[in-house]
Parts: sequence; structure tokens; C-alpha cells
Amino acid sequence: MAAVPFVSVDLLALATNPSYFSTLPATSGVEPAVSLLSYHDSFKDLLGPNATAKLIGNYSHQAFHEGGVYNKETNTMIISSNYDVGPPPDNINITILSLDDWSIQSTAYPDLWNANGGTSYYPPGSNTSAPPRHQVWADEGDLEHPSSLVSVDVANNKTEVILNSFLGGRNFSSINDVRQHSQTGDIWFTDADYGWFQYFRPEATVPKQVYRFEPGTGVIQVVADGFVEPNGLEFSPDEKTLYVTDSGAAQWMQFNYTRPSTVYAYDIIDNKRLANRRTFAFADNGVPDGIHADTEGNLWVANGDGVHVWNPEGILIGKIYIGETSNNFAFIPGGVLVFTNNRLWLVSGIKAQGREICKDFGVGC
Ligand SMILES: *[C@@H]1O[C@H](CO)[C@@H](O)[C@H](O)[C@H]1NC(C)=O
Ligand SMILES: *[C@@H]1O[C@H](CO)[C@@H](O)[C@H](O)[C@H]1NC(C)=O
Ligand SMILES: *[C@@H]1O[C@H](CO)[C@@H](O)[C@H](O)[C@H]1NC(C)=O
Ligand SMILES: *[C@@H]1O[C@H](CO)[C@@H](O)[C@H](O)[C@H]1NC(C)=O
Ligand SMILES: *[C@@H]1O[C@H](CO)[C@@H](O)[C@H](O)[C@H]1NC(C)=O
Ligand SMILES: *[C@@H]1O[C@H](CO)[C@@H](O)[C@H](O)[C@H]1NC(C)=O
Repeated sequence: MAAVPFVSVDLLALATNPSYFSTLPATSGVEPAVSLLSYHDSFKDLLGPNATAKLIGNYSHQAFHEGGVYNKETNTMIISSNYDVGPPPDNINITILSLDDWSIQSTAYPDLWNANGGTSYYPPGSNTSAPPRHQVWADEGDLEHPSSLVSVDVANNKTEVILNSFLGGRNFSSINDVRQHSQTGDIWFTDADYGWFQYFRPEATVPKQVYRFEPGTGVIQVVADGFVEPNGLEFSPDEKTLYVTDSGAAQWMQFNYTRPSTVYAYDIIDNKRLANRRTFAFADNGVPDGIHADTEGNLWVANGDGVHVWNPEGILIGKIYIGETSNNFAFIPGGVLVFTNNRLWLVSGIKAQGREICKDFGVGC
């Protein structure tokens, strides 16, 4: 494991010198590598002095794209690969990373056609004092199978479709990412249309929206619309705020940066509804994709050059800079696993702790 020093970014130099950033030693390398860019002193306090980094997977195919959901029973991290448009096209695989020995294998689960984001999941009636045995995955579907939410029992490779339409009347486009509210057990999810842009889903027949679904009763409602591509979503640690990324600048695997690369925030009312939509942050590089909060309420966001960290006021305090696109990442105790599609990076020895570490790992509570 190589120690990673912090590189202090001079904001006033950035303010007036557009070429300043590319002259930093950390950003001028030809190979992707981990650097910690500090945009505010609080970033050093948040991570602590002992960060190290290591490349643990470097593949010719894009095995490390989305998700990153820990399963305690098997001590594995479940990751989804990227869809390969081909030719020939290649469905999304599931990548299983062992946290015992960092070994990696590829698999597929029954009735999970094209997994994108996921989260750990307590089905109704679960014992929520123990780490969740199940996961719920956003299945983008394909040309034969509608987009759905699929519950996976990782230890047995068993799956169950728990939602595959809006009240029987409309299909989702490409469900993108999902979270479970800890107090209500409700599943909140985003529906984008990246399956259409990757040629494996029909054109959207519904607006791009955020939904709330009660797995115990079947109640479902739309809680937010007005997006180009609603993508990652995440609760604040107190579950009073919902963050949603809009990666609308990316469509058809092309970029138009006059569309959103933006994180929105909402107040959560009565644990059920949203109010007070506001612009929380705008990314300087790529599009914001998967997001996770830490226990102090900072928002970590996968972006075009690595993972950006915004404080609860929406100010960028630092980046885990890799120099290539990250679509998602996962907190582990004392660390974070960053997915950059062909590569998997481990950053460890950090003080910051993911919001769901206590629930998922049963440590750091
Ligand atoms: C950093 O590592 C040193 C030496 O192992 C240790 O004494 C210290 O507690 C660590 N600091 C943090 C914040 O983890
Ligand atoms: C990943 O593997 C490729 C092909 O073997 C190699 O050229 C490249 O240097 C590796 N990347 C890193 C960051 O080590
Ligand atoms: C799925 O896994 C197989 C075997 O590891 C690999 O050859 C293929 O490229 C993978 N496909 C994707 C889209 O990751
Ligand atoms: C729930 O899980 C906790 C922690 O593992 C355990 O102590 C408790 O016995 C479980 N309760 C039930 C009803 O299974
Ligand atoms: C589940 O699938 C994985 C990966 O394909 C395999 O290693 C494991 O043995 C399977 N487990 C069960 C209980 O079938
Ligand atoms: C939803 O998708 C399924 C499977 O692709 C299709 O059979 C069905 O007609 C679609 N329903 C609507 C309302 O579009």
C-alpha cells in the first residue's frame, strides 16, 4: 500500500488561471493514479493523516461500474459491470469482490438482467438489529424484460422481483439507483433512460422521475420530477435530506455540458414526501453519478476524474482524484473502494466513515 499525501489546491490560482490545475504534479500523470486533492483544510481533518492507496483490479473489460453493496454473510462486495454495446453486445455481469483476500469473480443472478445501482435491503419483517442479508438492485431490464427492482439473497444466489411496473399501467425506463429509508423500510429510486442510450431498452414511455415504493404494501408514488437524467440518490445521515444527481449532460454516451452535471437537495417531509428542491452542487468535471454520505453529512460523489467530496453546505472540500471517470464507489470500514470501470482502487487508512457502515458491517456503531 502506497501512502497518499494531500495536495493542496490553491483556489485563488484556480480562480484566475485555467491551466493551473493541469500543472499540479498529481494531475499531470499519464497513468490513472490516486491523489488526494484538498480544496479546503477540513478535507485533511476528515480523512486523517494515514491514507494509503492501491490498485486491486485492472481489467480489459469494464467489470467495476456501479453498485458496490456489501454483504456481511459472505464478506463480499457486489459490484455491477458496465454494459458493453459491442459488437457483439454483452450484458452486465455481477462482479464479486472478496474482502477476505481481494479476489474477484464474475457471475450473474437469475432474473437480474442488467444491474446498475444497488443497496443493502431489509425485506418487510426483517430483523434490523443484524446487518442486512439481502440487497436490492436496480435492474435496467432489456428489450424483453421490463426494468425492475430485484431483491437478491447473496449467500444463496436467490432473487425475487419486487417491482416491475408503475401500478401495472406503465413501465419504467431504466431504473438507475436505489436506497432504503431506515425508519420506514421504503425503497426510494431513480428512473433514467441509459438503457435506451446503450441500445438495450426501448425508448422511454415515462418522464425521468424519483419514486418511493413501500415493499410491504405495494404503495408507490412519484416524489420528484423535472430531471434530464436522475441518477444517484442518497439520504443525509439524519434522513431529513434527499440528494439526487442529474447526469443529464451525458446521453448517448456523448456529453453536452449545457445540460445538468448537478446535485439537487430536497427536504424529506414526514419520511415520505419531498419539498424545497434546491441546487446543492455543480461538478467541474464529468457528470455526478453514484453518491454516498459519510456520518458527518459530507456528500461523496463519483464524477469525471474521481470522487468529489462536498460538505453539507455544498462546498467542494476535496477529491479522491484518479484522472479517469468513476461511476460509483463504496465505503468500507476505514476506507473506500473506487470503481473506474476497468479498474478497482482501494483507498484505506481514512478516518471518514460511510453513513451505512454501522448497519452493513456491524462495526463503527
Ligand atoms: C495514523 O497512524 C498512526 C501510526 O500508526 C497512529 O498512531 C494514528 O492514530 C493514526 N491516526 C489516525 C487518525 O488514524
Ligand atoms: C492496467 O493494465 C494495462 C494493460 O496491462 C497497463 O498498460 C496499465 O499500465 C495498467 N494500469 C495501471 C494504472 O496500472
Ligand atoms: C462479463 O464477464 C466475462 C467473463 O469474466 C467477460 O469476458 C465479459 O467481458 C464481461 N462483460 C462485461 C460487460 O463486463
Ligand atoms: C436479531 O439480530 C440480533 C443481532 O444479530 C440478535 O441478537 C437477535 O437475537 C435477533 N433477533 C431475532 C428475533 O432473531
Ligand atoms: C453463488 O454464486 C457464486 C458465484 O457464481 C458461487 O461461487 C457460489 O458458490 C454460489 N453460491 C451458492 C450457494 O450457490
Ligand atoms: C412493459 O414491458 C413489457 C415487457 O417489455 C411489455 O410486454 C409491456 O407491453 C410493456 N407495458 C407497457 C404498458 O408499455
